[in-house]
Amino acid sequence: MKPLPQFLFAQAFIVCALGRLVQSFSTFQWPNPLLNYADRQLYEGPVDILAEGCPPRNDSTIPAQWLRIAYHDMSTHNVDDGTGGLDASIQYELDRSQNVGEGMLASLNDFNGFQIISPFFGMADVIALGAIMAVAGCGGPFIPFSAGRVDATEAGPPTVPEPQQDLASHAESFRRQGFTPTEMIALVACGHTLGGVRQVDFPLVVTDSATVLQTFDTTPAFDTAVVSEYLQNTTQNPLVVGPNVTTRSDFRIFSSDGNATMQSLLSPANFNQTCSSLFERMLNTVPSNVNLTDPITEPFEYLVMNDNPSRTVTLLWADRQGLFCPPSGCSQPSNSTENVFFTIIGQMQEVTATRYPFNATINATSSISKFWFEINENDGSEPITVDNGGAGFVIDQDSVFVDVVRTERIVAHSGPVSEEFMKLVVRENSASSGASVASFTPSLNANPPFTPTINTTDLQLDASNPPDGKFAFFTANISFSATFLDLTISSANSTITQKNFDLTAVNLPFIFTSL
Ligand code: HEM
Ligand SMILES: *[C@@H]1O[C@H](CO)[C@@H](O)[C@H](O)[C@H]1NC(C)=O
Ligand SMILES: *[C@@H]1O[C@H](CO)[C@@H](O)[C@H](O)[C@H]1NC(C)=O
Ligand SMILES: *[C@@H]1O[C@H](CO)[C@@H](O)[C@H](O)[C@H]1NC(C)=O
Ligand SMILES: *[C@@H]1O[C@H](CO)[C@@H](O)[C@H](O)[C@H]1NC(C)=O
Ligand SMILES: *[C@@H]1O[C@H](CO)[C@@H](O)[C@H](O)[C@H]1NC(C)=O
Ligand SMILES: *[C@@H]1O[C@H](CO)[C@@H](O)[C@H](O)[C@H]1NC(C)=O
Ligand SMILES: *[C@@H]1O[C@H](CO)[C@@H](O)[C@H](O)[C@H]1NC(C)=O
Ligand SMILES: *[C@@H]1O[C@H](CO)[C@@H](O)[C@H](O)[C@H]1NC(C)=O
Ligand SMILES: *[C@@H]1O[C@H](CO)[C@@H](O)[C@H](O)[C@H]1NC(C)=O
Ligand SMILES: *[C@@H]1O[C@H](CO)[C@@H](O)[C@H](O)[C@H]1NC(C)=O
Ligand SMILES: *[C@@H]1O[C@H](CO)[C@@H](O)[C@H](O)[C@H]1NC(C)=O
Ligand SMILES: *[C@@H]1O[C@H](CO)[C@@H](O)[C@H](O)[C@H]1NC(C)=O
Repeated sequence: MKPLPQFLFAQAFIVCALGRLVQSFSTFQWPNPLLNYADRQLYEGPVDILAEGCPPRNDSTIPAQWLRIAYHDMSTHNVDDGTGGLDASIQYELDRSQNVGEGMLASLNDFNGFQIISPFFGMADVIALGAIMAVAGCGGPFIPFSAGRVDATEAGPPTVPEPQQDLASHAESFRRQGFTPTEMIALVACGHTLGGVRQVDFPLVVTDSATVLQTFDTTPAFDTAVVSEYLQNTTQNPLVVGPNVTTRSDFRIFSSDGNATMQSLLSPANFNQTCSSLFERMLNTVPSNVNLTDPITEPFEYLVMNDNPSRTVTLLWADRQGLFCPPSGCSQPSNSTENVFFTIIGQMQEVTATRYPFNATINATSSISKFWFEINENDGSEPITVDNGGAGFVIDQDSVFVDVVRTERIVAHSGPVSEEFMKLVVRENSASSGASVASFTPSLNANPPFTPTINTTDLQLDASNPPDGKFAFFTANISFSATFLDLTISSANSTITQKNFDLTAVNLPFIFTSL
């Protein structure tokens, strides 16, 4: 199921995607905004664009920079008191020598630039997703994705391990972060298969000033070269063979169990499996008062099907009284299909899907209480009903909602002056006495911390749209870049809120005009 826009009267645009999948989506219950959004970001979001193919940047790679920042951000965790972890506190820790390296700022700018930070999906979730895309982009294993991290608003403790510290200090750092000495060896090997050490950042580790960055192994890929080159004693890893013995931290760590763990990681299958599960734990290391979603391992927004061009998919719905309306009024076949383009995660899982869009007209008086789908393969088999596990896709209130047909993105020009804003149009039960909208806009700052803006604006009666049935139209000008809305209406005896309306899941008309 694709992000189902809350629901839209007059023209309902509901989308249903069917794909050929390994597993079923059976356990997913709609609505679940966080899981739905996390699934969409993993399988259709923009983050893989900068990770696909393990692209180079400044003598390292973008994925190497993304993986390192995830570890450094997580490093504030203290298993003894449950504080710290992957919480984006790194945004407030960049001036520390532990976090030296232009990759840190570059990565945070990459993450903010995707503009996917949302009311329930913060920078910490994007850092985790970035690490997953980084590993996959360089040919490494899939790491299951859980979402729901909470962004810190201040720095955590300075607990990132540094190369000049001794083995006992490193073992204690990893214990504090929740990992055993054996897991420490593997985690460092899994991390140091990407990237390397920059001379300007660590001049005592990489002493030759002609070297910009000394890589940990000879391949940019996520592979076992870091292990095999170490064991063959051919490695150029500066944290193993650098001229200064004090900063040979990888050597001390890798050899700390007589090389037993490194020997086991020579097997590519074991390297894949070990790195995937340790990275999953690393990314899911969060303060103990934070709850993450169950891990996402498949695109459950989509229904399980074999490809079938003669398939028909029908949208059905019940009116506000819960009655199934006459077939002429309450069903709508999809008459077109769209390909779903998956991220590198979907590609590595060999998933394919087709999207079936609907454009249904819903009676504004009788309204809608829930909808569901019927899938007919037209091959003699029984049609299948997809109804959210029996409950249907329930629309819990129809008193206030965004009218996505009338809402417009406006670009107004007057000579060199231009103004961009969104003309939001809301339909509401005209019995209300007041209405407001809280708009969420991801940060457009050039530097961290990237904190979103939440502005609350009163809605005005919209003179350009006359009332329709029991509904009146209200409007407000909001930020062009707003992505999520909370609508609130009040009447004498109640307050109704429509939370987290996702403007990124709908196509709004663009209007170019003069000021
Ligand atoms: C004792 C533990 C560790 C020490 C002392 C250490 C040290 C370092 C140092 C000195 C650099 C060079 C950074 C720069 O030049 O800017 C580096 C890079 C890196 N580290 Fe670690 N590290 C440790 C553990 C880890 C772990 C557990 C990971 C797992 C994700 C990791 C991932 C990376 C990556 C991917 C890079 C390359 C960054 C790039 O090329 O831009 N490190 N590490
Ligand atoms: C490399 O780093 C410099 C700043 O040190 C930056 O201006 C440049 O754009 C970077 N190159 C790439 C490809 O990111
Ligand atoms: C590893 O190589 C270094 C030089 O590259 C050499 O000094 C050392 O003896 C070698 N160690 C082993 C165990 O072969
Ligand atoms: C080796 O590294 C340590 C820690 O960074 C530093 O204190 C020491 O001066 C370095 N030794 C040499 C010879 O550069
Ligand atoms: C572990 O392997 C390294 C690299 O080959 C070697 O220098 C070291 O002596 C080995 N340590 C043990 C205890 O075998
Ligand atoms: C490791 O994972 C990658 C990515 O899924 C895959 O291409 C590779 O074949 C795997 N290697 C082994 C030995 O499982
Ligand atoms: C996390 O889950 C536990 C157990 O279900 C619950 O008691 C707690 O309130 C939840 N915490 C948050 C912040 O949602
Ligand atoms: C689908 O239906 C809409 C309106 O019902 C129509 O405008 C459109 O042309 C149809 N598309 C196809 C591919 O038949
Ligand atoms: C939906 O159908 C209506 C007419 O029934 C048409 O005006 C509108 O353009 C269609 N919208 C889309 C997105 O196809
Ligand atoms: C819309 O629903 C109302 C109430 O059920 C009904 O009276 C009216 O005829 C319907 N309008 C259309 C165009 O079907
Ligand atoms: C929105 O902005 C336009 C253009 O500046 C203005 O004409 C209109 O009155 C504004 N609407 C509201 C509700 O503020
Ligand atoms: C939020 O409101 C302030 C004050 O009205 C305004 O200056 C600012 O541009 C708004 N920002 C966004 C992102 O809506
Ligand atoms: C609010 O109160 C009015 C009058 O008492 C009543 O008719 C109406 O049904 C109430 N609405 C809600 C949503 O409770």
